[in-house]
Amino acid sequence: SETYPQIQRHSKFSQLTKEHVEYFKNLLGSESAVIDGVTKDASEDIEPYNSDWMRKYRGHAKLVLKPQSTEEVSKILKYCNDNMLAVVPQGGNTGLVGGSVPVFDEIVINLQRMNQIRSFDEVSGILVADAGVILEVADNFLAEKNHIFPLDLGAKGSCQIGGNVAANAGGLRLLRYGSLHGNVLGIEAVLPDGTIVDDLSKLRKNNTGYDLKQLFIGGEGTIGIVTAISILCPQRSPAINVAYFGLESYEQVQNLFRQAKSKLSEILSAFELMDGRTQKLLVQASGKKLPLEGEYPFYALIETSGSNTDHDSEKLNSLLEDVMENGIVSDGTLAQDQTQIQELWSCREGIPEHLGHWGGVYKYDLSIPIASMYDLVNDVRDRLTKAGLVGDDDSYPVVDVVGYGHMGDSNLHLNVPVRSYDKRVEKELEPFVYEWVQSKNGSISAEHGLGLQKRPYIGYSRSEIMVKLMKQIKDLYDPKGIMNPYKYL
Ligand code: FAD
Ligand code: MLT
Ligand code: ZN
Repeated sequence: SETYPQIQRHSKFSQLTKEHVEYFKNLLGSESAVIDGVTKDASEDIEPYNSDWMRKYRGHAKLVLKPQSTEEVSKILKYCNDNMLAVVPQGGNTGLVGGSVPVFDEIVINLQRMNQIRSFDEVSGILVADAGVILEVADNFLAEKNHIFPLDLGAKGSCQIGGNVAANAGGLRLLRYGSLHGNVLGIEAVLPDGTIVDDLSKLRKNNTGYDLKQLFIGGEGTIGIVTAISILCPQRSPAINVAYFGLESYEQVQNLFRQAKSKLSEILSAFELMDGRTQKLLVQASGKKLPLEGEYPFYALIETSGSNTDHDSEKLNSLLEDVMENGIVSDGTLAQDQTQIQELWSCREGIPEHLGHWGGVYKYDLSIPIASMYDLVNDVRDRLTKAGLVGDDDSYPVVDVVGYGHMGDSNLHLNVPVRSYDKRVEKELEPFVYEWVQSKNGSISAEHGLGLQKRPYIGYSRSEIMVKLMKQIKDLYDPKGIMNPYKYL
């Protein structure tokens, strides 16, 4: 294809025909269930389902299906499997590795119409909901019951909980609530041959055999479609505090993190890192003002969530006094109300959206031991600067090289905002970044997954034997290879 010259469409997959489209229209009924570019009576524009959030990946699906029940998903997949039609499961389409859009003409199966909350138990805190429930909708529902969804991220207004699980998203509070591998208690999924796997357990403990649901968590739609999840949701904390600091060095950010853990302990709910360049670009792109007067090479955002305002304020004030007195932080501010809390969070959560302002972004989502985490940003900046690719005016492709991320999880987001995607920049970045991460025994995908972007690079973080075992699992669950092809492995 023109879009991906290095990838060939598998000839084993059928081309979509009018008969196929008729089958799906009969199955799903209403026009809105099918967006169809084959018989050209599309009820909605197909383009948004073909393009990813970054406008970096683009497929050529001619059909989007929006099933409303697990049974419909089962019938769709069985028909696709029998007829060798490749599919892409799609949630909110906010994924950042090109996994949620077709590569060629795969049929998009979008879960947005499966959006019911099935049950919530206020005693155990267990929520059971359809995969297509929007994360923010689930969290608002839980807020009314004094509970919280154990995952939060900047795309909450459009991503779906099934997509979150399929991507094994990490987000802003993993350090407090842990990963979805721990919080998800059960899954309902459909295999490519139409088999419904009903493992919607509500048990915290269940040591009866292999924990197969884990394969769907982070499976990125390569072995089946998640249609519902059961998830353990913590009590919502009534006392939330957010502080934002300016710091002189990465060394001091690490000191602040140590102090925060020791002084705040159980109430610490987020520790996020932003370098000064990220914050500067955020200001340039959004026009907003930063909360602190001076400019600093590093910033950190700390959130606490607890049950007692006085207790939490006492702890936080003691931390503030300490880190100011010891010169660990150069300046800081503490949000006084809900509006200020949101304002401070926007300095962190607004980053992904605004870094795209200049045209595009090369994004790397990496796990690196915390001590050397930021060295990579400096090394990449040096490398691109030496290659003559970074500069202030439009003649340079690269705007800057910046780093931010979930410091509490040793998860760095190395971002290279560009004026346009450029092969010269790509050549300097890859495989350099992956080799660098491998040399530290890190991971080339901490929380965003492999998708299309990282499929060729899995070997930098996983051994040959591990990859072989993964391929065996893929072949077992999806022997015909119709699920999200060309990606992941
Ligand atoms: P999609 O993008 O639609 O799909 C993601 C993958 O899962 C694809 O491979 C798709 O095929 C598959 N899939 C989707 N639904 C299903 C299903 N029901 N069954 C099987 N497979 C399915 N990620 C983080 O980890 N942490 C963050 O802090 C974070 N912040 C973000 C902020 C912004 C502004 C944006 C745009 C993205 C962010 N992400 C983050 C990326 C993140 O992975 C997604 O936002 C989210 O988890 C994906 O959910 P989605 O419903 O949009 O899934
Ligand atoms: C984040 O932490 O903001 C997200 O993972 C998105 C990104 O990496 O830009
Ligand atoms: Zn992130």
